[in-house]
Formats: sequence, structure tokens, C-alpha cells
Amino acid sequence: MSAVPNITLNDGNTIPQLGFGVFQIEPDDTAEAVREALDIGYRHIDTAEMYGNEREVGEGIRASGIDRDDVFVTSKLDNSLHEPDDARKAFVTTLSDLGFDYVDLFLIHWPLPTLYDGDFVSTWKTLEEFHDDDRARSIGVSNFQVDHLERLAAETDTVPAVNQIEVHPYFTNEAVREYGQGHGIVTEAWSPIAQSAVLDDPTITRIAENVEKSPAQVVLRWHIQRGDIVFPKSVTPSRMQENFELFDFELDPSDIEEISALDQGEDGRTGPHPDRFARA
Ligand SMILES: NC(=O)c1ccc[n+]([C@@H]2O[C@H](COP(=O)([O-])OP(=O)(O)OC[C@H]3O[C@@H](n4cnc5c(N)ncnc54)[C@H](OP(=O)(O)O)[C@@H]3O)[C@@H](O)[C@H]2O)c1
Repeated sequence: MSAVPNITLNDGNTIPQLGFGVFQIEPDDTAEAVREALDIGYRHIDTAEMYGNEREVGEGIRASGIDRDDVFVTSKLDNSLHEPDDARKAFVTTLSDLGFDYVDLFLIHWPLPTLYDGDFVSTWKTLEEFHDDDRARSIGVSNFQVDHLERLAAETDTVPAVNQIEVHPYFTNEAVREYGQGHGIVTEAWSPIAQSAVLDDPTITRIAENVEKSPAQVVLRWHIQRGDIVFPKSVTPSRMQENFELFDFELDPSDIEEISALDQGEDGRTGPHPDRFARA
């Protein structure tokens, strides 16, 4: 099996295009899931303060025996902590919970434009501090819409390295992806298999039969060939293995087009709308 490709970010750092997500993994199960994922070959873990399992992510990485420097670790600022001083304290807690002196990537989890007087710019400038002192090797955002990204471009000095947004065949989120492509911001696709809701789709199952792969492998390969980063979540070792085996086959351009055509626009969105989401 060929290796997971690296993608070069706008700050020169590289990130494995395939990782392992730990949203909704219970803290008690997280260290073992992370250790298992690393054993399979994953070298990129996506967590967040909000997931409540950063400590166990750190434990799993240490238990694997793999050098910390060989694993790409992302975490995200909690919604309740956007004020600069809160964000500074929260970042210290993230590092101490993980048990590391740096993260590879730190994100603003949600823009929350209706909270904090709509001021995600000060929050972003606080993340710039973490980048400047090298405790966050790269910084980025999550769930930012085009107008939020335009505002950062107008009012700050650093272009986010990534924007982590909902993307899957029922919600391809093209306008935000295209803005990223045009401005050096790599798209990370969250809920890449829509928490398994796309796996029974007849187009996906037909393509899967043709290429002799599982529906999940086809959907994840679609993301990979579109150039996005993915980190499917699973607590099931056989699925973790399956989701890692994406680099020994290719989809035809016509397959890619057919899957992209499953887009349902806003009807396909499973998560909250970033313009309205306001849970601090
Ligand atoms: N930034 C954000 O706001 C945001 C929001 C959501 C997610 N995320 C990130 O994105 C990651 C992935 O998204 P997600 O966890 O929402 O959903 P997902 O990866 O699209 O789907 C996970 C679900 O699909 C099942 N599954 C996994 N592999 C499968 C396979 N090969 N066949 C059948 N079912 C399979 C899992 O079940 P089992 O675990 O039972 O095997 C789990 O129920 C998260 O873990 C998190 O890191 C970020």
C-alpha cells in the first residue's frame, strides 16, 4: 500500500492528507482508539477542547511508542473561550492536557459571528501569538464562511493554513472550498462520510461494486482526489483499517463527477449553519 500523501500548507509545514478524528469518542475509549489508529499507520489526529478527550489523545500517542514529532496533532479553541485572555489560558490547558509543548495545528472551532460582538478577529490575532512563539506550528479556522475569511484577510496579517468545514457528497460546500483554493487555504472535510448517512446511496454503492471497494472507501477516496484533507472517526478497528486503505485504487473522473452531483446544497448540511451557530 502506498503512503498517505502530505499536503504543504501556506506556511510551509506539511500535513498528512488522511488522519483520524476523535469527535464523540468517549474519553475512556480515546487512548486505545488513538493507539490502535497509530498502529494501523495513521499519523494525524484531529481533536478539540470541546471533545473533552485531549488528555487521552496524548496518552494514546505516548502509549504507541511513536515519536511525538512523527504525529500531526490538531486541536481547536472552545466556543466559550474566544476572549483573548481566555483563549491564551485555554491554549495552555490544551498543551498541558495533551502533555506536549506544541500542537501542529490549532483552530478557531466556530466563528460565532453573533457572539462576542462578532469579533472573531481578536481571537484570530490571539492565535497568531501562539504561531509566533511556535507553540502552534500552524494555525487555521473551522466553519468559516467566505465573508468571515474575507474579513480576516482585510484585518489581519496571517492567512489561515486550513479551514475545517462540513463536506461530504450530500453537502459539497463548493463556494467555501473554492475561496480556499483561490487563497491558499486547504480545506479539511469534517464528517467526510456524513456519519455514515451517504454509505447506502445507490450511486455510491454502484461505484463501490465496480471498483471492488467499500462505500466508505469510495467516498473517502473522492475527497482525497478532490484534494481535501479527511479524518474519518471510528471506534471499530476493522473500519479504522478500511478507512486507511485509500491509496491502492483510483476513481475515474466520471465517478468523481457523479458523486459530486449528489450535492443537495443546504438541504444536505447535517451540522449547524456557521452564520447562526451561537453555542458558547
Ligand atoms: N470542526 C468541526 O466543527 C467538526 C464537526 C464534526 C466533526 N469534526 C471532525 O471530523 C471528524 C470526522 O467526522 P465525524 O466523526 O462527525 O463523522 P464521520 O467520520 O463522517 O463518520 C463517523 C461515523 O461513521 C461510522 N463509520 C466510520 N467508518 C465507517 C465505515 N468504514 N463503514 C461504516 N461506518 C463507518 C462510525 O462508526 P463507529 O465509530 O461506530 O465505527 C461513526 O458513527 C471528527 O471525528 C472530528 O475530528 C469536526
